[in-house]
Amino acid sequence: MELIEAIKSRRSIRRFLDKPVAGEIVRELIDTAVWAPSASNEQPWGFVVIEDRDYMRKLSEKAKAGLLSVMEQTPALQRYRALMENPDFNIFHNAPVLVVIYGRRNRGWSKHDCSLAAQNLMLLAWERGLGTCWIGFAHKVCDTAEFKGRHHVPEDFETAASIVVGYPEFVPQNPVPRKEFPIFSWGEGS
Ligand SMILES: Cc1cc2nc3c(=O)[nH]c(=O)nc-3n(C[C@H](O)[C@H](O)[C@H](O)COP(=O)(O)O)c2cc1C
Repeated sequence: MELIEAIKSRRSIRRFLDKPVAGEIVRELIDTAVWAPSASNEQPWGFVVIEDRDYMRKLSEKAKAGLLSVMEQTPALQRYRALMENPDFNIFHNAPVLVVIYGRRNRGWSKHDCSLAAQNLMLLAWERGLGTCWIGFAHKVCDTAEFKGRHHVPEDFETAASIVVGYPEFVPQNPVPRKEFPIFSWGEGS
């Protein structure tokens, strides 16, 4: 697949087949993710891979409860209330794999570096016939001491990107329209 085709045809996937993803493929995604550029070549990332749908469902319930508990103070979340209250909604969309990218805390560009790694991962996954979706809702649960302790994440790392991976059951056909964007300036300075 041409790079431009991968970039333009990739979609966030929210329905997955009940089919495992081979560990070597997940490994290849991560090995490729880390070819992203990083500020001062810090390469400030670390990874947790979860291949356990039942566990992810439990994490989803925790994340939903946590998000509901801060809903009143967080106006931006209020549009998601019905989703969070829906017992059938799984924030991980029942995907078979979750890759959490952690960035070293207190490094100025860490989240940017990790986001670039995340995009590499998502594009290669797409080229390999896999779907991905970045799950912002997961960040709170992946940053708890309990979760980090269980998965051996050092204290000085924090969640930068949580991405589910799996074989798509359904690929939305039309791209989400891109908004008009301003080019504030282009050309000479005077
Ligand atoms: C930082 C970030 C957080 C996101 N969080 C979620 C999420 O929690 N759940 C979800 O289903 N999609 C999530 N998405 C996916 C976006 O909704 C999606 O990228 C956007 O609607 C554009 O669609 P496309 O990826 O198919 O082009 C997130 C994307 C980003 C970049």
